[in-house]
Amino acid sequence: MNKASMIVDKDFVVGKVDERIYGSFIEHLGRAVYGGIYESNHPTADEQGFRADVLELVKGLQVPIVRYPGGNFVSGYNWEDGVGPLNERPRRLELAWRTIEPNWIGFNEFIDWCKKANTEAMMAVNLGTRGVDEARNLVEYSNHPSGSYWSDLRVSHGYKDPHAVKTWCLGNEMDGPWQIGHKTATEYGRIANEAGKVMKWVDPTIELVACGSSNRGMATFPEWEAAVLDLAYETVDYLSIHQYYGNQKNDTPNFLAQSVGMDDYIHTVISTCDYIQAKKRGKKKIHLSFDEWNVWFHSHEQDKQLEPWTIAPPQLEDIYTHEDALLVGCMLISMLKRADRVKMACIAQLVNVIAPIMTENGGSAWKQTIYYPYMHASVFGRGEVLVPLVKSPKYDSSEFTDVPYVETVAIHSEEKSEVVVFAVNRHLEEAMLFEIDLRSFGGGRIMEHIVLEHEDLKATNTAEMPNRVQPHSSGNAAMTQEGKITASLGKASWNVIRIKV
Ligand code: AHR
Repeated sequence: MNKASMIVDKDFVVGKVDERIYGSFIEHLGRAVYGGIYESNHPTADEQGFRADVLELVKGLQVPIVRYPGGNFVSGYNWEDGVGPLNERPRRLELAWRTIEPNWIGFNEFIDWCKKANTEAMMAVNLGTRGVDEARNLVEYSNHPSGSYWSDLRVSHGYKDPHAVKTWCLGNEMDGPWQIGHKTATEYGRIANEAGKVMKWVDPTIELVACGSSNRGMATFPEWEAAVLDLAYETVDYLSIHQYYGNQKNDTPNFLAQSVGMDDYIHTVISTCDYIQAKKRGKKKIHLSFDEWNVWFHSHEQDKQLEPWTIAPPQLEDIYTHEDALLVGCMLISMLKRADRVKMACIAQLVNVIAPIMTENGGSAWKQTIYYPYMHASVFGRGEVLVPLVKSPKYDSSEFTDVPYVETVAIHSEEKSEVVVFAVNRHLEEAMLFEIDLRSFGGGRIMEHIVLEHEDLKATNTAEMPNRVQPHSSGNAAMTQEGKITASLGKASWNVIRIKV
């Protein structure tokens, strides 16, 4: 059997996991809101029309933060359309996704939903069609206690207490020509700085995320990052990073290797942030908000057939396969390996739209394959990431060289006296004998070894067969006489090994 190994030491720490790395995203897009979190005539709908079955699945993920309301949507959005009496809210042409936006759900309802889901909101402001004025007004509406025009308007809408939203995104993907109000780096850097500056004047406790590139393939990457930060370094706290992957060529070894490109992408963005810090002689480290990431490609063709100008059409409804779940696991590991700098991240998105949770209108809700690695990471992956000294056999794929078959990371929770190891075996034909040397911990006791595997890499979960791909417990992890842990990682598998230390 092929062999791989990892040494971890409790004193060699990459960084503490910021729980917001397990965030997600709800955009007014497709059936994410209408038919996803909200469906007033669904059998499980609560008094506000929120689906209780969806809420249960969301709670199972322990999502700490949810980005809202977009995405591309936010760049044409008037937030005022979504607050106040329902019967006065306008129906708008939504130009980013060519739909009708009825505004049945807006900012206040979303905050209510966040409370029900045990999560908090990460709000985005529109820097496409709008700017400094609407951004500062929204912060005043949201966070100012009362006694001013916008805060009193919130109170008059039935929300006496401020929403206290802490994290704000300064627009969305402003480098992309597809974006409503697309800008050059200089135009964007200026408006982000000016909007951010006055948003912080309204509420100095908020944190701000500036837009980085929309993906690593953008022609302006990484010059965009450098130019934007050069203009907004003093004002912003995080730089966003977005990336989606796909298996369009049905080349699975290469598909699974793409997180190696993500490692490199993260590294380059960190270097660019540090370059600007050095240039500014600054004290402040700019951290990363990986606020859109996932697999996205299955729905590209079917979306071209959709009629424009309808409410909540089934857009971006990727049905995920087992192999997609493996790449999602690898992407989570990539971010954890840089827990020192990746402080927030949002799997895009949460329900129906390229999402771990799927629903039928009026029907059931179920877990997609990718739900599982995301849930395991969020539920078990809290603590300090330990430096992973990994030895693994490697392969070359069509685009990447030296891809380790085993992608892995370990997290130590002192509070729970637990080490959790996440590991993906990218090998499609063979299991891997994996040895974990816990050194300074002086051994440990295996609590459980959870495995997600399937004979068919293209297996999916559907409304009819919601549990076709689901994790099971494996009995094969063991402790050797030398105090090392060994486990057999099945071919093409995602593994969670929990060890009491
Ligand atoms: O998540 C779907 C879309 O992908 C978002 O609206 C946009 O920001 C990105 O291009």
